Amino acid sequence: MSIKLNTISKFADLKTTRSTWRHNNQTIALVPTMGALHEGHLSLVKLAHTVASKVIVSIFVNPKQFGQGEDLDEYPRDLNSDLGKLEEIGVDLVYAPDADQIYPHGFSTVISVTGISEGLCGASRPHFFGGVATVVTKLLLHCTPDIAIFGEKDYQQLLVIRRLVTDLDLPVDVMGGPIVRESDGLALSSRNIYLSKQDRQTAPMLHKALMSTRAQLLKGVSMHQVASQTTDQLIKAGFKLDYFELRDANTLAPMDQYGGQPARLLIATTLGRTRLIDNIAVIG
Ligand code: PAJ
Repeated sequence: MSIKLNTISKFADLKTTRSTWRHNNQTIALVPTMGALHEGHLSLVKLAHTVASKVIVSIFVNPKQFGQGEDLDEYPRDLNSDLGKLEEIGVDLVYAPDADQIYPHGFSTVISVTGISEGLCGASRPHFFGGVATVVTKLLLHCTPDIAIFGEKDYQQLLVIRRLVTDLDLPVDVMGGPIVRESDGLALSSRNIYLSKQDRQTAPMLHKALMSTRAQLLKGVSMHQVASQTTDQLIKAGFKLDYFELRDANTLAPMDQYGGQPARLLIATTLGRTRLIDNIAVIG
């Protein structure tokens, strides 16, 4: 299939297109991704079409958010397949910058968001949110969108980006999109392809654990009462648990009991060699 999508790899070319759009009073939505696109990413693109007249999808596997020993080298990359999917649902521009467009020679800046990025994924992946905040800042400055859309799948990431945008007065609205799941409940992720056949069958237990725990929390049971039994079951099934926590949905402050204010139940595990994260809203 020959791809007709407008795909740009240089910041200078992006600037030209962007200025033309601005001149014609178009509104721009950006969906940042690292490629290996699935229905979760595509749902954000569909959402983008409902809120802006021009949609940019960025595809950049950001080395700065991978730590040593993580999966940067094997992270799935298939630009042609991604472009095919985007062509099917329609986007106005794909920004797939060359690495030197984001990190030119001598690049030395790290954007560090404190507080909300500490704990949860920030505890086990200390480099991660600095890398995310840095690349997202650059992508926002390159694309100058009116709206930037991120998935609730990476809930802490969404809140880190909201904090970043607020703190730096970046002129963009941040929108969250709901988690897209397989029919058995497993949240879609580019990393799911690493799962062995057997682990793929086990993986939906995570979502089931979130749902059964939420049901208990809504009945007034505390997290420390309900969590240990659930985590035992997960460990027996082969998961290595990183965290399983109830947090305030806006501040991520730790909670033990659901008290009526919006909360989020978040879990991170490794299954085989695959890190899996998931979360659900807890609202009565
Ligand atoms: P990536 O993992 O490619 O995800 C891109 C966007 O898709 C993120 O906002 C993520 O939350 C969202 N997403 C992933 N799986 C989803 C699902 N099942 N349902 C709904 N949305 C989903 O997240 C990143 O890339 C990077 O950290 C990035 C923000 C691009 C910075 O490099």
